[in-house]
Amino acid sequence: MVPKIHSLGGYIHECQKGIANPEAFWNQVAESFFWRKRWDKTVEWDFKKPEIKWFINGKLNITENIFEKNLYTHANLPAIIWEPNNPEEANRVLTYKELLAEVNMFANALKRLGVRKGDRVALYMPMVPELAVGMLACARIGAIHSVVFAGFSAQSLADRINDAEATILLTADGGYRGSKITPLKDIADDALMHCPTIKNSVVLKRTGSSINMKEGRDIWWHDAIHGEPAHCEPEEMDSEDELFILYTSGSTGKPKGIVHTTGGYMTYTAYTFKNVFQYNPGDVYFCTADIGWITGHSYIVYGPLLNGAQTLMFEGVPSWPDAGRFWDIVAKYKVNQFYTAPTAIRALLAKGSEFIEGKRLDSLKVLGTVGEPINEEAWHWYHDHIGKNRCPIVDTWWQTETGGIMISPIAGVTPTKPSFATMPLPGVQPVVVDNSGKELVGNSVEGNLCIKYPWPGMLRTIWGDHERMKDTYFSRFENMYFTGDGVKRDEDGYYRILGRVDDVINVSGHRLGTAEIENAINEHPLVNESAVVGYPHAIKGQGIYAFVVCGELSTGGEDGIRNSIMKGVNKIIGPIAKPDIIQLVPSLPKTRSGKIMRRILRKIAEGDASNLGDITTLLDEEVVDQIIDGALVDV
Ligand code: WT7
Repeated sequence: MVPKIHSLGGYIHECQKGIANPEAFWNQVAESFFWRKRWDKTVEWDFKKPEIKWFINGKLNITENIFEKNLYTHANLPAIIWEPNNPEEANRVLTYKELLAEVNMFANALKRLGVRKGDRVALYMPMVPELAVGMLACARIGAIHSVVFAGFSAQSLADRINDAEATILLTADGGYRGSKITPLKDIADDALMHCPTIKNSVVLKRTGSSINMKEGRDIWWHDAIHGEPAHCEPEEMDSEDELFILYTSGSTGKPKGIVHTTGGYMTYTAYTFKNVFQYNPGDVYFCTADIGWITGHSYIVYGPLLNGAQTLMFEGVPSWPDAGRFWDIVAKYKVNQFYTAPTAIRALLAKGSEFIEGKRLDSLKVLGTVGEPINEEAWHWYHDHIGKNRCPIVDTWWQTETGGIMISPIAGVTPTKPSFATMPLPGVQPVVVDNSGKELVGNSVEGNLCIKYPWPGMLRTIWGDHERMKDTYFSRFENMYFTGDGVKRDEDGYYRILGRVDDVINVSGHRLGTAEIENAINEHPLVNESAVVGYPHAIKGQGIYAFVVCGELSTGGEDGIRNSIMKGVNKIIGPIAKPDIIQLVPSLPKTRSGKIMRRILRKIAEGDASNLGDITTLLDEEVVDQIIDGALVDV
């Protein structure tokens, strides 16, 4: 069993072990799993290359640790509890035994389609159990899954498929989200016109929408598994064999394929899940994320299932049929641990408390948040109205790259403070570094958040671009992993995440690169150039503010051009990247060397134009006044 912390003393003790002897600390966690062959060495690392390896030469299969290892005790316990989009539709509960049978059947189907160890399988699916089945079937046979969030556009999907050179795509005829249907298969068809490596697409019937099945390429999911046995021998994997790729935005245009490997990711997600949420056998755990993001990978699928937990998977959205949906689900299943994003909390808070009244929330023991800084108002509302002042809030800081939670309270153990992620988990060694790379020791310091020692769940590379891995995370500060976040360590040694210090913005907990959005805007035939910055947004945390320079205006005038830019971004990236504000400007503020001064644009977008700092390096100071005059926020 994965070791569990029960007290503040225990937590401090584990932290000390994790620093004094990280190898012994992580060995003890990894020993709770079933390894076909034990590792020879715990860790080998060199942040200069960078090269990171954990549990070297260990052999295992992660699904064997989810299923076979626990079957004597867990076979008939619920693994996935699935709540459909429509509350009137029947739910589904899959026990560990049933889930294993589904996984094995689908694993056999993948094999029959020619999928082998190391091949990449892309998934573009709604939040249904088959999404988890598809991922676990890949892991069963050693294929590398690459889940693409079902809100992304055809072009984003195609880019990700092509970068990974995936040979199979798993999708569905459509996906329900509130009152809408996303035509996943139609979008996938558009994408696949540009994806030469895809041989087959397996299509789940979910909405019954009328779709095209391309002869020789597309197969129905139910046909693919028809007649397949419910047994499939797990592939023996090396600790460092890739488990999955997940794309995330960086500060340059192209999304990065973050690579996680088997042994370390397993150890890390299982340990952090059990400890942070203080999961006890029999508890019902509900994470509202989409599996298309890392939160869903680590804390809907792998972390909970590795612990034999009951993980609730919800297909729909928080606002449909009304803003009480999450609380209806909590009451219906007597949810014990509830994990969501600050943006959802703020959106529900704004709807008022009528949607909570009369709902039984007394099963709740732990509340979690993730994805962006949580403001104090949202924290207190969550604590008072949802947790009824009884439930500790775990504000969990981590990233796609970290694989699992890094800085967070242990529920009920670590004293919390609103809007603080509090302290690092055992085995995690954060440091605060100033811009010159000097470590700021002691408390009451503020700077860049780095990690100075490897942890098992960390990324190993960027798919197909190891140089970029080095440039992005290991070049800015010597011998440390740079997170891209600013942080404050207060007088008590508590960490408060201040947000990104690079050109990444965080919209409703979703990460977007400003360059990525600019590239999409610049595709518009009338746009000469653009600059995108984040600005404070009451619900989304950050909104997208685009400053756009157009050569001429089309017939629709300014509004016409704004609309067509929006449509373009929607098509190229997806709805999450649509700017909230588009300001047409005569030109952008640039330095003499031609660099856009984003700092100035950020200030204007924040409504703080009185305090622009030094602008003497600008090529043309007048343009700043013109932008301020036309600003679409109060400046
Ligand atoms: C970025 C990572 C980790 C799963 C979801 C997002 C921000 C994440 C917190 C938090 C303040 C947070 C950071 C980080 N972030 N959690 N508790 N408090 N900020 O994963 O898309 O990889 O984004 O999200 O800025 O760098 P992601």
